[in-house]
Amino acid sequence: MRADLIQLVYLVAAVCFILGLKWLSSPRSARRGNQVAAIGMAIAIVATLVDRSVIDYTWIIAAALVGGSVGAVIARRVQMTAMPQLVALLNGLGGGAAALIAVSEYHAHGALGETSLGGVAAVSVMFSAIVGSISFAGSLVAFGKLQEILPGRPITWPGQKVLNALVAVAILALAVWAALAVDDPILWIAVVLALILGTAVVLPIGGADMPVVIAFLNACTGLAAAATGFALGNVLLIIAGMLVGASGTLLTQLMSKAMNRSLASVLFGAFGGGNAGGGSSAASGEALPVLEIGTADLAAQLVYARRVVIVPGYGLAVAQAQHPVRELADLLGARGVDVTFAIHPVAGRMPGHMNVLLAEADVPYDKLLEMEEANPDFPQTDVVLVIGANDVVNPAARDDPSSPLHGMPILEVDRAEHVVVFKRSMASGFAGVENLLFHDPKTRMLFGDARKSLTQLVQDVQDV
Ligand code: TAP
Repeated sequence: MRADLIQLVYLVAAVCFILGLKWLSSPRSARRGNQVAAIGMAIAIVATLVDRSVIDYTWIIAAALVGGSVGAVIARRVQMTAMPQLVALLNGLGGGAAALIAVSEYHAHGALGETSLGGVAAVSVMFSAIVGSISFAGSLVAFGKLQEILPGRPITWPGQKVLNALVAVAILALAVWAALAVDDPILWIAVVLALILGTAVVLPIGGADMPVVIAFLNACTGLAAAATGFALGNVLLIIAGMLVGASGTLLTQLMSKAMNRSLASVLFGAFGGGNAGGGSSAASGEALPVLEIGTADLAAQLVYARRVVIVPGYGLAVAQAQHPVRELADLLGARGVDVTFAIHPVAGRMPGHMNVLLAEADVPYDKLLEMEEANPDFPQTDVVLVIGANDVVNPAARDDPSSPLHGMPILEVDRAEHVVVFKRSMASGFAGVENLLFHDPKTRMLFGDARKSLTQLVQDVQDV
């Protein structure tokens, strides 16, 4: 009876997870989605705790208190710009937890044929222990790179791919051995090798590709958790793990597509270390002209414009300039200017980064245009304000086959009548590629911190 009730409660939790994911797919319903998924998780935890296989609550309560408090403090304190590393860390812990449960299941029940672990459970335990460990180590390296504890550039060494392949084969052989024999140390050796492999696979990947790697590792963690669910006979863990696995896979695909990179080139390409050349004037040493504009002149231009498009990027998030940019849009809107925001799918450092940032400043959702909607209208746009964005508006991605960005879809701001770029210097963006848009005769640079420039611009627009 109790077991049936628990299954029923698990079903309710699973529905919460699915609805949560569905609602998370739009900024309008994302908050609700997050809350419903959290309720689902709370229900799942309580149901698992009343399960009769729990013998002693002491350690569970102690761990929940410590983990819950640490998690709550970190989540409250984390900056928006540091969200990708938080996701990496949490994902790694998920993978590590799945691996530890698998190892303890193996320890408790033994291997194939000897004791109660059947064929499916033995395969699940091995999969979970190994993939969970790879995900744990890889996510920690990703965290270290994003947090700048480790260098963001690709770290490579000779024979890397061959060595990784050999380690992978060794892990596979040890997993088969451990599944057939009852021998804890063999599984432990496989786990240690999986930790080494996770580290060795992520170290050569550049910082710019880290969000894709994190989404990929997230999918791995989901699959490891689902495998743990098979080993434990826990339906909810299987469903939740599969949902994470599927959404992580879809996200990996979407991001790779938006950056025009294949997953293989992300994982094995050693790209994005910040030093990639641009195949343009930088190589020939020519100093190209750069034209500047001040906030007062820009204010006058904006007030008399019909259509203005704002393109936010990573720098807007760094400068925390979402509130002044909203104020600017409101002021111009009140003067009859048509103002919209054009959002590139990989602007910023994580999926939906710009949407979350602008939602925080209460920018109405109907003012946000996706890349496909925004691009056809640039030729009819009087002024584009590119605020802290760089790679996502780099015309080399469209025009220069020698550019490392070539093929990445961009916001085609250079088709507008005037472009104004807000940034602090002529430095390149995250891909390390020079941007000829800054030298285009129709472009004006507004140098300085985006928040300060926008605050001054708001003031100047009020004075016009
Ligand atoms: P970036 O190309 O990284 O350019 C950001 C620009 O912001 C920099 O050129 C920087 O120039 C400027 N900036 C920094 N701090 C600023 C401040 N306080 N005030 C004003 N400007 C500031 O950004 P993007 O155009 O958003 O492109 C995103 C990049 O990240 C792409 O390469 C993309 O592929 C990569 N990426 C994104 C994702 C996701 S999911 N979003 C995933 C993987 C990779 P200064 O230093 O001169 O100010």
